[in-house]
Amino acid sequence: MRVIIEKDYKAMSKKAALLVASQVRLKPDSVLGLATGSTPLGMYDELIEMYNKDEIDFSEAKTFNLDEYCNLSPENPQSYHYYMNDNFFSYINIPEKNINILDGMTDDVKRECIEYDMKIKRAGGIDLQVLGIGPNGHIGFNEPGERLNVKTHQVDLAEETIEANSRFFDSKEEVPKKAITVGIATILKARRILLLASGKNKAHAIKETVSGHVSTQVPSSLLQTHPEVTIIIDEAAAELI
Ligand code: F6R
Repeated sequence: MRVIIEKDYKAMSKKAALLVASQVRLKPDSVLGLATGSTPLGMYDELIEMYNKDEIDFSEAKTFNLDEYCNLSPENPQSYHYYMNDNFFSYINIPEKNINILDGMTDDVKRECIEYDMKIKRAGGIDLQVLGIGPNGHIGFNEPGERLNVKTHQVDLAEETIEANSRFFDSKEEVPKKAITVGIATILKARRILLLASGKNKAHAIKETVSGHVSTQVPSSLLQTHPEVTIIIDEAAAELI
């Protein structure tokens, strides 16, 4: 694992965008695994700026998002479909057919999950997987537990995740209780992984990720088993390492 500590959120975002940009420049038809949440917003802004300056071209890139809430339509501003268009895709030249996001509205979850894993495989696998991290060490929506379901699957969100994500909703009650997420096996099959974290509330999870026991109780600790992980964090998130 390579850990890069940047001064603040802005510097973390810039460094992350440079890494994504270098991936896409070296391999224009890269398959990118993307995350939502607060953490990558600055990185998306930086990438949009690079695109506006003609420094990066997404016309051949393909993307697969990590997760989506169940029962939120793509038009719902809290859905991850909406988030990705609103914060990234609508500002760059990625063809719509190259964008993949799980369908949280599906009435056949099992099939949706199997097809998503097959689509990733058919695309040649993920070249660079961008991850955020939950304060409890979740990656994607792979929540801590005694066992992990390693393929794409439906999850019951952990109470602390519902609590943490309630800041995006009018009330905690509105946060969906279920989501679909790619599993740990799909994440670990990515050729390179970029994990981002910012802020004091991620410091404990980062410590466990970098130097804790590898355990399903801290899903991000499984990243220790991957040969190509870069962690870019700000000083606050690095406080305990
Ligand atoms: C989002 C995702 C989640 C978030 C994590 C951190 O697609 O997979 O694992 O990365 O919950 O969220 P923020 O960045 O909002 O703290």
